[in-house]
Amino acid sequence: MYDASILNGLCIRRESLQGGGMLSYQHSYHAGNHADVLKHIILGDVAAGMFNKDAPIFMLDAFASRGIYDLNSPEALKNRESDSGVGKLWPLRDEPTNPPGVRRWFKLIASLNMDDSYTRFPGSTAMLHAMAREGDRIAACDLHPQEFDTLRVSFQASRRFSLLKRDAFEAIKGMLPPKEKRGLVFLDPSYEVKEEYRAIAKAVAGAHRKFAGGVYVIWYPLLPAERHNELFRELKHSGIRKILRIELDCGDLFPDMQMHGSGMLIVNPPWHAEQAMQQSLNWVCDKLTDGKGRKQFSWLVPE
Ligand SMILES: C[S@@+](CC[C@H](N)C(=O)[O-])C[C@H]1O[C@@H](n2cnc3c(N)ncnc32)[C@H](O)[C@@H]1O
Repeated sequence: MYDASILNGLCIRRESLQGGGMLSYQHSYHAGNHADVLKHIILGDVAAGMFNKDAPIFMLDAFASRGIYDLNSPEALKNRESDSGVGKLWPLRDEPTNPPGVRRWFKLIASLNMDDSYTRFPGSTAMLHAMAREGDRIAACDLHPQEFDTLRVSFQASRRFSLLKRDAFEAIKGMLPPKEKRGLVFLDPSYEVKEEYRAIAKAVAGAHRKFAGGVYVIWYPLLPAERHNELFRELKHSGIRKILRIELDCGDLFPDMQMHGSGMLIVNPPWHAEQAMQQSLNWVCDKLTDGKGRKQFSWLVPE
């Protein structure tokens, strides 16, 4: 069963799951857009900032989607969102002044494409997988049958890399604290339903009670309904300290998209990543919005 609709400003396909639940968002419609650019570059910066110590880390990509997206697919070509994201930036890939996080991201895209194109576009799982060191462990979850099947085709699961058709909220509860005692949890839900903003804050608060030293990276969209404020409110009330807010509001630069910007909240941001993240945000704002976007790099909750 399936119908196409616009919900929360994001393009949604409705499919009923076995078991009666609803899971309908497909990231392929949005892959490579302005939000993905910021998301994947900053995620890479955070992971790199945790690698300053040799001790292994556990990385949980709780809402993984398919890992690698085909930007020539009918879904991606429907609204061509990547044209104003990775497509706009790709000509800058060899600029010597690109900051480290941007260089890492371009290098990863190039490694997936043999023809100097960016059509095989890496998602969050591809980024974490490419960056993981020998002793690190990754788990990537997605409940959507099609996304999960594609994830399994794109990556080979191993003892250190689990691909799980598992509910993200349940995985966050069940897999923390990790035996490594160091961990990065990426929460990138589709916000299909408005309750999800509060549910994410609650999930992070619960995880933080069990694993206070973990690094939690939460992505959120900027949409006209401004529901991200509920996420902020709930997190502020949770008592969690040290929450960094990195945001890019593109204003009316992308009139065809309801999502006018996006942000990341990072609980316990690695100290070593702060300069790199600031440089990445400045670069994305300059190059993607010609400096017209509004940037935030501030503490939602300080130490
Ligand atoms: C925004 S997409 C993720 C994009 C991906 N993180 C990336 O950057 O490439 C959200 C994904 O979460 C999945 N999802 C939604 N609710 C979920 C749940 N409760 N448990 C696991 N996966 C879920 C959806 O199927 C979708 O593929």
